[in-house]
Amino acid sequence: MFPVLHNEPLAPQLHRMVIRAPRIAAARKAGQFVMVRADQGEERIPLTIGDADAEQGTITLYIQANGSSTRRIVATPAGGTLRDIAGPLGMATEIENWGRVACVGGGVGTAVLYPMAKALAAAGNNITTVIGGRSDQYIILAEELADFSDQVKITTEDGSLGRQGFVTAELESLIADPGTTPQAVFAVGPVPMMRAVAEQTRPHGIKTVVSLNPIMIDGTGMCGGCRVEVNGEPLFACVDGPEFDGHAVNFSVLADRLTMYERHDGPCRLA
Ligand code: NAD
Ligand code: FES
Repeated sequence: MFPVLHNEPLAPQLHRMVIRAPRIAAARKAGQFVMVRADQGEERIPLTIGDADAEQGTITLYIQANGSSTRRIVATPAGGTLRDIAGPLGMATEIENWGRVACVGGGVGTAVLYPMAKALAAAGNNITTVIGGRSDQYIILAEELADFSDQVKITTEDGSLGRQGFVTAELESLIADPGTTPQAVFAVGPVPMMRAVAEQTRPHGIKTVVSLNPIMIDGTGMCGGCRVEVNGEPLFACVDGPEFDGHAVNFSVLADRLTMYERHDGPCRLA
């Protein structure tokens, strides 16, 4: 059993939960995830470890409640428990000092971006964070990201906060100015966003890392549910990723596989 210490809504349908899980907190690295089951017989849900405090023995998870199983998890209040948390799983983010790095987060993907950006900042990179959402209420973690980013730029589709438009408009401006052109870009968000970012950086030869969110079932390389195509080769996001070279990912295959399960309730995509 894993005690829930804190549970708060962060944006529409999105919760931040702090959970006691000392062994995972001590072992986890940025970019890794856990499989969470609210109770026996429930579906396993893959969730990125948003943050961890090894001294306190806690991990932070961001959960988008868009299906019955994720709603069941976020309905667990502080003082309650979650039945199973397995992890840390997946490969850690490749952390180097690239120099100037742009970290780009679309909507809920910003929660997945957060630990990557924090680790990149700790490695000495100069971080420009770009986060976008449909409107101001979907902009998350701006203050937390500002704690270690050299600058944070916000975009909203309706113009209610920051620049009006998509995150890609802000990235285009960064790339166009030789004084701000990033040496590496880390992007997490909806598939069309990550595809658009990869196409923006490709002509400039800018290293681009994306975090993929295919359907996951076991999270350990056994079921094949999370198969993605990278450099024309089949790989499993749960053991080979979830982060991959954005220029090598076949986003059409990913988009097709994600829609395969749309009729079903609460597909367990990595979030
Ligand atoms: P959303 O559709 O509201 O988009 C958020 C922002 O992403 C937009 O405001 C825009 O700035 C950018 N964006 C979206 N489409 C774009 C495009 N075609 N070109 C350029 N920029 C674009 O996102 P949401 O509703 O918060 O997130 C839901 C989606 O994110 C789901 O598809 C979910 O699977 C995905 N997701 C992915 C990950 C991951 O690890 N990659 C994690 C969580 C969620
Ligand atoms: Fe089963 Fe990756 S989730 S192989």
